[in-house]
Amino acid sequence: MLGRIDHIGVAVEDLEASLQLYAEVLGMPVVHRETVAEQGVEAVLLDVGENHVELLAPLGPDTPVGRYVAKNGPGLHHVAYQVADVEATLAALAAAGTRLIDETPRNGIRGSRVAFVHPAATGGVLTEIVQPAEEH
Ligand code: CO
Repeated sequence: MLGRIDHIGVAVEDLEASLQLYAEVLGMPVVHRETVAEQGVEAVLLDVGENHVELLAPLGPDTPVGRYVAKNGPGLHHVAYQVADVEATLAALAAAGTRLIDETPRNGIRGSRVAFVHPAATGGVLTEIVQPAEEH
């Protein structure tokens, strides 16, 4: 059902300091940067091998990532797996009784379609499924 890991999501407080670490010290190239107002985050995607790290900086305290950072501090936020068909995967998860955060897909960065599975259903790991945009 799930393909390879697409990215690891990391919640950060200070995006520029985190970019200094990931891009300059760890040497991961920045491939995309996008503010997603509806999710209340500024996201930066970095390449690491065939996978990515997604840095997530909250746009304010009253956002999902802002509340996460206030409660847990910065750190590992979610794991994202690629799927070929996010709608079909969601339907299969729902049919299996899996608790979902998103009943229908939402728009992710870089034209992807994404949905989140509730961490209560996945052993405490917030899990994202990602259908990448078609490559042209
Ligand atoms: Co993500």
